[in-house]
Amino acid sequence: MPSFVDNSGDTLRGMTLRPDTRLVSLGRPAHEDEAPVNPPLVLSSTFVGSGDAAGRLTYARASTPSWDPFEEALGDLEGSELPALLFASGLGAIAAALSLAPLGGRVIMPRHTYPGTIALAQDMESRGQFSLEFFDVAPGVPEALAQAEPERTLLWLESPTNPMLEISDLPLVLAAARERGVVTVVDNTFATPLVQQPLTMGADVVVHSVTKYLAGHSDVVLGAAVAGDAALRDRLHAYRTLHGAIAGPFESWLALRGLRTLSVRIERSQSNAAEIAARLARHPRAESVRHPSLPGDPGHEIAARTMNGFGSVISFCHAGGAEAAEACTAATRLWTPATSLGGVESTLERRQRHPGEVASVPGSLIRLSAGIENVEDLWADLDQALVTE
Ligand SMILES: Cc1ncc(COP(=O)(O)O)c(C=O)c1O
Repeated sequence: MPSFVDNSGDTLRGMTLRPDTRLVSLGRPAHEDEAPVNPPLVLSSTFVGSGDAAGRLTYARASTPSWDPFEEALGDLEGSELPALLFASGLGAIAAALSLAPLGGRVIMPRHTYPGTIALAQDMESRGQFSLEFFDVAPGVPEALAQAEPERTLLWLESPTNPMLEISDLPLVLAAARERGVVTVVDNTFATPLVQQPLTMGADVVVHSVTKYLAGHSDVVLGAAVAGDAALRDRLHAYRTLHGAIAGPFESWLALRGLRTLSVRIERSQSNAAEIAARLARHPRAESVRHPSLPGDPGHEIAARTMNGFGSVISFCHAGGAEAAEACTAATRLWTPATSLGGVESTLERRQRHPGEVASVPGSLIRLSAGIENVEDLWADLDQALVTE
């Protein structure tokens, strides 16, 4: 069987390829007669070797060819020279990234960060690992960062935030953090590397819930972390190996299959989201519509300047309040009432139905994840659900 690790790199060496081509082409077997087109699924917990000179592949908790093609492609897409690291879930990658916080130091993060990240950070704080501070996303450099103690602080960023869709000025904030010797982690789940590449703007680490857009079909739970620097990647790799909750080969294979179509899925879901946001903004039953594509959105100017698109998640408040919002999510037939986002199918939910949601998220707020269906069908279904009492 032809070997496949890094062979696509050899085949493509010297070619200048754009990101939408690279995500289709990276991590494939070399063009040798009878080679498979896709990397094979390698189901092996251990690898042949003897003596002291162990190779890179020894035991599959530390490394397995099943991760290589996805890790190579995602690292490249995020603008790192190093492969990404797959984790068993997005939260697994987040746990590894939070472990980079200086012991006894400070972690600062947006108030409306993904609630799972907040819950984990609060748990770590309660164990004395660091102290935690929240800030409100606004243009400019957050006050909490301006006052950060150098070498003792980790800045967590999520942009757009989940579910309020606030936009941070990543180039500005990341440059300020770097100047102050503050380690930075960006959760890039909502944007994906096709829309923004935080490492190229100065972030130290990017994390993803691969479960969402990267895998894209609501059929796997996976996460990833990407570091720009080898020492940080080594620490994340050691965390993954020691804590042991690793990604399965089949899930990794499915994620790679999903990644191949990321660019066409994002193109369609972003355009659906912008159209639906514009129509919602004119709808009498929708208030406070948030999507950075809207000219009046507080994040519009920053997003237009720093992002390559506006993302595919929208949030709005139902004018009839929390009960009407709940009735609306129950009344859709095409939109699936479900948590999560980033699949080919459109989903929606009232966020405050989760007891762990941040208190300042309004009870009537519905988060929509636009999929790739026909936008007219999506709008017709949402429009009829909005007027359901
Ligand atoms: C922005 C964001 N980050 C991380 C996660 C956690 O990812 P996972 O569910 O794959 O653990 C989620 C899940 O909803 C999310 O929305």
